[in-house]
Amino acid sequence: MQVAVLLLLVAALCSATLALDNGEMRVPPMGWLAWERFRCDLDCEHDPKNCISENLFIDMADRLAEDGWRELGYVYVNIDDCWSSMKRDEKGRLQADPKRFPRGIKELARYMHARGLKLGLYGDMGTHTCGGYPGTTLDNIDLDAQTFADWEVDMFKFDGCYSNATEQEQGYPLMSKALNATGRPIGYSCSWPAYQGGLPPKVNYTELGQICNLWRNYGDIQDSWDSVLNIINWFFENQDVLAPAAGPGKWNDPDMLIVGDFGLSMDQSRAQMALWAIMAAPLFMSNDLRTISSGARTILQNKMAIIINQDPMGVQGRRLVKEKIGIDVFWRPLSKNASALVFFSRRTDMPYRYQTSLSKLNYTAGSYEIYDVFTGKSMALKDSAPFVVSVNPTGVVMWHVSAPAKWNPRHFYKASVCVYTANRYDLNEEV
Ligand code: GLA
Repeated sequence: MQVAVLLLLVAALCSATLALDNGEMRVPPMGWLAWERFRCDLDCEHDPKNCISENLFIDMADRLAEDGWRELGYVYVNIDDCWSSMKRDEKGRLQADPKRFPRGIKELARYMHARGLKLGLYGDMGTHTCGGYPGTTLDNIDLDAQTFADWEVDMFKFDGCYSNATEQEQGYPLMSKALNATGRPIGYSCSWPAYQGGLPPKVNYTELGQICNLWRNYGDIQDSWDSVLNIINWFFENQDVLAPAAGPGKWNDPDMLIVGDFGLSMDQSRAQMALWAIMAAPLFMSNDLRTISSGARTILQNKMAIIINQDPMGVQGRRLVKEKIGIDVFWRPLSKNASALVFFSRRTDMPYRYQTSLSKLNYTAGSYEIYDVFTGKSMALKDSAPFVVSVNPTGVVMWHVSAPAKWNPRHFYKASVCVYTANRYDLNEEV
């Protein structure tokens, strides 16, 4: 009898501490998400290429698979709002709009899987989605989780329109359990904190890390620099709360990448990519991959920016310095004693020549190998050596900094090999 009680206790403790042990998203998820660029465009008759229909997701899947995205890690194709029919079926299950998704969600998931991609789906904890489609009230959570698993969905975003704080407090953990109970690994994205102001005491980041793989903390991104800057400001003003919450399997989500749309210059696009990498943010592009410019594609496909974003240690970076002159410096520690630095300009006049040194940025004594992420150039730099970076208005300079080389002639030789191979995207490997 006593043994049985003990076993029960151990089982209860285990399930409590391993709440979201779904093994998913040990590094930030990457892919494509419909919302920012395609919203709730329902006009398939007049706008067949852009309306929310299976064709849009098939088009994007083809681009991801054929234009080099998938190999870089962009594997999720995520449906957002407005995919469903206005009514549940006769068994009470959600169903896709039959006109716009004639083959159904399961077929779409299979299309993705056949191409080495994954499918994400959207729902809402509440009576309706934000767009007015059927929501998931508390009594439907188990059924909906099972439906998504039956459809072979790989990720689920649970929005929070049309529910109150009490319902959310019940619903988000229940959905986590229900998804786990299906036995299908489904990455779980929670919009819960965004509906509760994103900060403690209303938001409990310890609990979120146990039940969700990622979570939206803040408002929706729009296609403008103002919007990107507003998000950057909020996330770094609150970094002391947010950064410790992130780690393998649990990520803060500052919302989609809008690189490739209409609102950002190339410098601003590099700034968004660089800071999302520093933040260990999920990289969900919301753009039109069929018509994206080569400039935007080059930024989104930057291998070193992606390596930094995907670093296995999963530590979210921070702002180190906010200079009155309008320069911020951000830093993220990476595995193998490497790190990333971003010099960011809020200025609106001309490229600013910012002078500092690695020791001023808290680096310990030594000689470091610097790789400039967007120019592909390398150099060696001593901690004490003053240097100048020229940062464009609303732009960035981003560096990958490798571990300090200990001073011996062999290392000197190694360092020069490193410079030589820098463009081949193997700085993270031992030379
Ligand atoms: C909310 C979410 C967005 C998007 C829309 C859809 O605003 O925050 O990301 O999902 O709903 O209606």
